[in-house]
Amino acid sequence: MRPETLAIRTQTERTGEKEHSTPLFLTSSFVYDSAEDMAAAFADDSLDVNIYSRFSNPSVDEFVKKVCLMEAAEDGIATATGMAAVFSSFMTFLSAGDHIVSASAVFGSTHAILTKYLPKWGIEFSYFDMNKPETIEGLIKKNTKLLYVETPSNPGLDIIDLKRVADICKKHNILFIVDNCFATPAVQQPIKYGADLVLHSATKFMDGQGRVLGGVVVGKKELIKQMYLFIRNTGPSMSPFNAWVLSKSLETLYVRMDKHASNALHIAKKLEGHPALSWVKYPLLESHPQYNIAKSQMSNGGGILTFELKAVLDGGRKFLNNLTWLSMTNNLGDSRTIASHPASTTHSKLTEEERQAVGITPGLIRLSVGLEHPDDIIEEILGALK
Ligand SMILES: Cc1ncc(COP(=O)(O)O)c(C=O)c1O
Repeated sequence: MRPETLAIRTQTERTGEKEHSTPLFLTSSFVYDSAEDMAAAFADDSLDVNIYSRFSNPSVDEFVKKVCLMEAAEDGIATATGMAAVFSSFMTFLSAGDHIVSASAVFGSTHAILTKYLPKWGIEFSYFDMNKPETIEGLIKKNTKLLYVETPSNPGLDIIDLKRVADICKKHNILFIVDNCFATPAVQQPIKYGADLVLHSATKFMDGQGRVLGGVVVGKKELIKQMYLFIRNTGPSMSPFNAWVLSKSLETLYVRMDKHASNALHIAKKLEGHPALSWVKYPLLESHPQYNIAKSQMSNGGGILTFELKAVLDGGRKFLNNLTWLSMTNNLGDSRTIASHPASTTHSKLTEEERQAVGITPGLIRLSVGLEHPDDIIEEILGALK
């Protein structure tokens, strides 16, 4: 079966109740038939039995299994949030004395982990510019263990050639981790290009309706085994309820991403050249600096576009305040279109210099294009720009 079908047809084994829609296993722990079975479950980590929902849960497993099938991954593990997925990946594979190379254009909280927390524990980092992949190799040292990118990045929409980076990582024997949150597996599968692990904030397009938080990491079986032990012991596990919501959402991910992307491309094209804007950025606009890479590794441009208002900070505020129904919130990947101002919200903890370095200018507006009629969205934006 194709991934589109597997995302719909993968389900926990039907119970004796003969339910059609997937059941929710809202339970913290599981029972045993005998004291011997209970002892065996604890004695052997490799036994496929449920013990406690911090370790495993059928609703969570169903969600993870679907993401593995969609990402062409061997195995996976779910976390409470996207940041728990990022942090658990770093903590599982990095030790004091290690070094990580990361794109500088990463989500604000990932930037905080890299710059504020990892150094505190003796782990060094180096940043590279997504627009200069030729500088990556020069940053790799003897103690480099991991390379990390987001593509497209949040909010700059920088795109990197996944195969090129994967080849560098293979050559130097370092782990390659990709945050695939903006694209989703419906649009891009980094494992096919050589990534070792792919992670997501499932809070975004995977949920798609702004209801629950979640994260997931998928990839090579032996790496996921190590992450499982870290997560089982330290506790950033996904709640079964959130997994149930997310698993149902994955059934519609492909159709939703197609519509998010066709709406976003339509709006990007209409906005390009508007006199109030300095530029419009969207992966599948020919003016995007990495348009050719986007075309070769993404099946569509995704649901996020950005533009810069000529009138910068005050203009940004005025634009947001002029919106009538479009949501002003910092989430993304919702069925409802969202406008946000990264410089004063998600990326406000970066210094002005750090923001400039990753293209987060004061006038930058990030639009998470929803599933409404594209003409309604464009009319709302044009009205606010006027
Ligand atoms: C690219 C990216 N990665 C990770 C995260 C963190 O996810 P969460 O908010 O689910 O912790 C976000 C959140 O916006 C994100 O945009």
